[in-house]
Formats: sequence, structure tokens, C-alpha cells
Amino acid sequence: MRPVLGIETSCDETAAAVLDESGTILAEAVASQEAHAVFGGVVPEIAARAHLALLPDMLRRVTQAAGLHFNELGGVAATAGPGLIGGLIVGSQMGKGIALAAGLPFVAVNHLEAHALTARLPGLVPGGAAFPYLLLLVSGGHCLCVLVEGVGRHVRLGGTVDDAVGEAFDKVAKLLGLGWPGGPALERLAASGDPERYRFPRPMLGRLDCDFSFSGLKTAVAQEVARHGAGALPRAVAADIAAGFQVAVVDVLADRVMHAMALFTERHGAGGLLVVAGGVAANMAIRAALQDVAARSGCRFVAPPQRLCTDNAVMVAWTGIERLRLGLADSLDVAPRPRWPLEQLLSARGSE
Ligand code: KG4
Ligand code: ZN
Repeated sequence: MRPVLGIETSCDETAAAVLDESGTILAEAVASQEAHAVFGGVVPEIAARAHLALLPDMLRRVTQAAGLHFNELGGVAATAGPGLIGGLIVGSQMGKGIALAAGLPFVAVNHLEAHALTARLPGLVPGGAAFPYLLLLVSGGHCLCVLVEGVGRHVRLGGTVDDAVGEAFDKVAKLLGLGWPGGPALERLAASGDPERYRFPRPMLGRLDCDFSFSGLKTAVAQEVARHGAGALPRAVAADIAAGFQVAVVDVLADRVMHAMALFTERHGAGGLLVVAGGVAANMAIRAALQDVAARSGCRFVAPPQRLCTDNAVMVAWTGIERLRLGLADSLDVAPRPRWPLEQLLSARGSE
């Protein structure tokens, strides 16, 4: 198969990449839209307009850097959901336009599946992570435990009943007066704090399912911040609160994944593989805790490099390659889907 162009526009990262079938990145670009910072969150209309302004030139640049013309590609893969509808329309329509003009197959990529398949990039794990594996997907919009049994074959074991983990990081970071997105800033602040000084709740710990909850933890942090009165918190207090919050998140994730790993072992036998993906997987404390869970469960652990955890187009191009190899191209009239659960991938494909 010739190299595939990937396009990612589901949230506030505009990204494009060209990958060959062996997973070698021939060219890539990611532009994180700065315009949202003053609003403390992504503004959908601003995001859509920024994707429209940035993408055409970015697509020309990455294909040129890969030394290819559009008609020398093997296919075009664009994120078609879940995400913000304006951005999804921009990215998938441009992808379809190139596919139509250059006579290429088009793949409508599910953003969650793209995160899920990142660990299979052969450069990350020799030969690529083999199916099946247990995936913890933790991002700004999602928190899920999934059995990844094949391309389009995902079994959801559990997920958050309220906030996503990244959302909780972002909200707590805002309470502590950090910038946006808050996750990386909160991790940096927590490094200088005492995780024992404030003992925040660990929701769902020990439950016999794979669900998560973070809103009570976030509320507990908000109450602690309020207790200190109006005005900016002293830096040392903010650092201790950040560290106390982060260690509570780590404990919850480790407990829930330990349980999910036991279910995985029941279904697929011992010696499995645990994979973490999504923006929050860039957090080093979380990676270390998951590494430990995997070791205690007798499993291997794979965490993609941090730059492939946050949104990028390499994962989209790779998902395109995986799907095209199986003959799973999409028709050009497939519509973008703001809501598109992983479990619906198979039936959507099956009816095409
Ligand atoms: O996967 P992603 O780039 O976008 C979504 O699909 O949501 O994830 C972004 C989320 C944000 O909530 C951000 O605060 C969080 O990932 N994040 C982190 C870290 N880096 C990014 N959270 C905790 N620690 C980090 N180092
Ligand atoms: Zn994402």
C-alpha cells in the first residue's frame, strides 16, 4: 500500500500526517489553537474557523515534506467523529475532496479508535502491539476501559459516569489559577507539592465494575480551595492541593484498571497487554502507576510517547492504514458524527 494521509480536526488541534504502511512517519504537523486559552475552554465556532484557515496549507506542506503529490498517496483518512461538528465537517470534507480529486480510497476514522490503535504503530512496539489488549483511554472528553480485540472490534468494560479525567484536571487547574489546558500545568505544580497534606476522596474504589467518577473529587477540591478564602492561593498550598488531587486520580485509575485487567485475564488468559492512550496518558505519575498495575497483574505495558498521546494525525493515518488493509474504505457520502461510540463501529461497518 502506498502512504496514507491522515487528518485530525475533532477538537482544537489541527493536524496532518503522512505514514507509510510500515508505520514510518514521512511527515507530520500539529497546530494547537491558542485562541481558546482566554476563554478557559474550547470554543467550537473558533475551532472550526481555525481548522478551515490552517488545514489547506498544512495539507500541502505535509505532502510536500513527504515528497509526494496527492495522487501518489494510497488513501486519505480523516477523523469523522466523535468531536465538535464544525471541525469534523472541515477535516472530513477536505479529506473527501482530496480523495475524490485524486481517485483515492477514503476512511472515516473514529477518533477513539485512532487513540486505541496508536500502540500498534510498529515503531512503538517491535512488530506492533498484537490484539487483544486492554486499553485505558483517558482524554479531555473520554475515560474508558476497553477490550481491543481487533480493528472495529471493541468491547467497552466501563467508563466515567460523570466527568472525563482530562476535564477534571482542567477544572481543578482552573480552580488553582493555572492556564488552559490545565493538565500539563497541574502535573508540573503537583511535582513540588505534598500529596499527603490534603486527603481527597477516591470515588468508586473497590467496586466490582470498571466505571469511574471524578465529579465528587473535583467538588472536594473546590471546597478546599474555597476554605482558603478569596484571592490567589499561596503557591505552596496550591502545589499541595494539586499533588493531593493527582494522587487521588492515580489511585482511582490504578484500582479500576486492576479490576479491568482481572476481567481481561478471565476472558483472554494471563500475560496480557495493558495500553494507555489519550491526552492524559502524557501524565508521568499516571504512566508510572499503570506500569505498576501491569507488573502486578503479570502483564506488559505500552504507553505511546507523549506527543502521540495528545491529539495528532499520525494515529489517524495509522488507523486508515489498518482499515484499508482490511478493505474497510468508506463511501464519500458518510456523514461526520459528533457522537460515535466505539461499540458502534462494527455495526456501522457491517451495514456498509
Ligand atoms: O486526547 P486529547 O489531546 O484531546 C481529547 O481528545 O480530549 O486530551 C486533552 C486532555 C486535556 O484535558 C489535557 O488537560 C489533558 O489531556 N492532559 C493532561 C496532561 N497532558 C494533557 N492531563 C494530565 N497530565 C498531563 N500531563
Ligand atoms: Zn483525543
